[in-house]
Amino acid sequence: MLLAWHGSVLALLASCLVAVEAAPSPRSTCSTLSVRKEWRTLSKAKKLSYIAAVKYLQSKPLITASGFDGVRNRFDDFQATHINNTDYIHFVGYFQPYLSLNMLEQSFAWLTSPADGTDGSLPSMRKHFKPHAVTLDPSHWTQDSTEVLFPKAPVFDSTHGFGGNGPYINSTNDPSVTLHIPGKTGGGCVQDGPFKDFKVNMGPQFNLTYNPHYLTRDFSPYFASQTLNSTVVASALAGKTFKDFDVVAQGRTDVPGMTYHGGGHLSAGGDLGVIGDAYASPGDPSKREADISGPDTQFAYPFDFFGEIPYKNITLNYNMFFGNLTPGITWAPIKNVMDISAGPLCYTYL
Ligand SMILES: *[C@@H]1O[C@H](CO)[C@@H](O)[C@H](O)[C@H]1NC(C)=O
Ligand SMILES: *[C@@H]1O[C@H](CO)[C@@H](O)[C@H](O)[C@H]1NC(C)=O
Ligand SMILES: *[C@@H]1O[C@H](CO)[C@@H](O)[C@H](O)[C@H]1NC(C)=O
Ligand SMILES: *[C@@H]1O[C@H](CO)[C@@H](O)[C@H](O)[C@H]1NC(C)=O
Ligand SMILES: *[C@@H]1O[C@H](CO)[C@@H](O)[C@H](O)[C@H]1NC(C)=O
Repeated sequence: MLLAWHGSVLALLASCLVAVEAAPSPRSTCSTLSVRKEWRTLSKAKKLSYIAAVKYLQSKPLITASGFDGVRNRFDDFQATHINNTDYIHFVGYFQPYLSLNMLEQSFAWLTSPADGTDGSLPSMRKHFKPHAVTLDPSHWTQDSTEVLFPKAPVFDSTHGFGGNGPYINSTNDPSVTLHIPGKTGGGCVQDGPFKDFKVNMGPQFNLTYNPHYLTRDFSPYFASQTLNSTVVASALAGKTFKDFDVVAQGRTDVPGMTYHGGGHLSAGGDLGVIGDAYASPGDPSKREADISGPDTQFAYPFDFFGEIPYKNITLNYNMFFGNLTPGITWAPIKNVMDISAGPLCYTYL
């Protein structure tokens, strides 16, 4: 598997800008904020409940039926939407609000909003996810960022986590791997935990055909120590503008240029793990995109990863496209989701 993020992204962005439709409901104030906690701070019961909620998603009917052949359930809706939009949402000015806020976390949050009241499963979704939806804030990224701690991270626990690594497969000469991650230790199917027999329905790569295959992981504790440590995170947070922060947080697409976003994927995904696949990564239930922007970062500019090619500036009015992921919210302007403590998001971090 490879990270196939490439130079056409910003060019594609321009075509993305053409269609603009009615926006979803604007920001509103929150009556309460849900508190998002790092995995290890949850009680055992809450961890089990969260895992049950992921499985619950996998048992619920799909919503994005018309667009994607491989989707079989509500969990797959998220993976398919990510696969389909991968080329448009990475290395662009709205990467953070789109992926970090919206793609998973906010979609869960939106499922609890009155705008989305049609699916009978929503009360249960609300019950499971709202009180303790788990994500990572920047300081959480660093907590297992040593070679010793990474494979033992609580999130990979076999009972109260998402299970661990796959057995070692030597992928040195695997032609499907274009980005070799130093220090990889796995590559095969996950051997333990609640998703041991779980099948990912789409991928690898940009492929929405139904293709059930076991979940793989390929830990690189070394790569975690180099990309998730506090120096790396601090260098992003030291940015004086959103652009400065965002360019570092997204990192480059080559191995030496990876920072904590790519590092998070590839420290667990290595050469062969599902979560290391730029397109299909949400097929790994342990993938939880963080809000890595935060309430102080109010502006999104484009930036120039791929040389001097034509672009348009992204502004807070830019309308992000979500397809059929969440009923009633096909498009969402960035400005509605940059403040996590305002509606529709309404959450904070502990
Ligand atoms: C998939 O992506 C294409 C290109 O952006 C878009 O035109 C299409 O509407 C998307 N499909 C769905 C079902 O969202
Ligand atoms: C993996 O295979 C390559 C090429 O055959 C070999 O050079 C390398 O030593 C192998 N690595 C391990 C850890 O076995
Ligand atoms: C997409 O996946 C299907 C099912 O695994 C496979 O048959 C097909 O060849 C893949 N398409 C491409 C372009 O790789
Ligand atoms: C953090 O990662 C950088 C590379 O990104 C590395 O140079 C540095 O030694 C690492 N720090 C620690 C404490 O491992
Ligand atoms: C984008 O915004 C920056 C900062 O305001 C400005 O310098 C630049 O000229 C703008 N680029 C385009 C293509 O509008």
